[in-house]
Amino acid sequence: MQKLEKSMETIQKGFFYNNTEMVKNAVREFKSNLINMDAFILSVKEMENGRNFKPKRYAKEEVKALTQMSDDIIDAYERDRKDRATRVYANMISRCLTCHKIIRKW
Ligand code: HEC
Repeated sequence: MQKLEKSMETIQKGFFYNNTEMVKNAVREFKSNLINMDAFILSVKEMENGRNFKPKRYAKEEVKALTQMSDDIIDAYERDRKDRATRVYANMISRCLTCHKIIRKW
């Protein structure tokens, strides 16, 4: 998880410094670290607020969605749509926090 956070930070830095290679490399790094996420077994006790909540399946779906979004950022850069890339990035953060909200009962 810290690795994911680190690469998210580098992606953001790449946006601020308008550094395309920094963004692309950090997105690739991010993607390779995502694989570890579905190994996360969220305890059922922490999930009691959602009756049909299947933590493992949820984590897998999040990995899939975040992988797709990573590809969307690269794709946006390739089409010179950096504005689009930053919107995708904002959606990624909100996905991270949605899971954290559940597990931390915010
Ligand atoms: C499927 C659920 C889920 C998603 C999605 C998720 N996380 Fe987490 N995250 C966790 C769990 C579980 C913990 C550990 C429990 C805790 O800290 O309360 C955690 C903890 C963390 C931590 C604290 C350090 C650590 O390793 O414990 C960071 C940083 C973090 N996540 C970053 C991210 C980022 C960045 C994303 C989005 C790219 C993300 N997380 C998406 C479940 C998730």
